[in-house]
Amino acid sequence: MPMLVAARHAWIGAGRPLPDLRCETFGSSGSLPTETFRVRLKDSGIELEIPRERSMLDVLNTSGHDVMYDCKRGECGLCAIDVIDVEGEIDHRDVFFCDHQKRSNENICACVSRARGTITVDTLLRADAI
Ligand code: FES
Repeated sequence: MPMLVAARHAWIGAGRPLPDLRCETFGSSGSLPTETFRVRLKDSGIELEIPRERSMLDVLNTSGHDVMYDCKRGECGLCAIDVIDVEGEIDHRDVFFCDHQKRSNENICACVSRARGTITVDTLLRADAI
């Protein structure tokens, strides 16, 4: 991924139009080491640990938080959830969001992306609406 990012920056830096750049990706291994991190659910008092070997999507769904998904490869964006706060750093491992969206840290693809530290998210699941 760093090579593809460098190629894209070089392409843009040379004044070439981004839509003319063709590349293919098969997911991203991220820029941070894979480690355990914590996810706090907005307004619920619930905090979940995401171990190294499991995805945030898997932990959220097995905990009953009902996050939609499709590809589980960071390509479709269906599993994207809102990020409210970051105490640490997000490692965006999807190929769905553009660089600008990743830098904003407003959303995260729960199927592949990870974090260092604790992030607060809003899954939009409302227990009183069920
Ligand atoms: S399920 Fe497709 S990007 Fe996460």
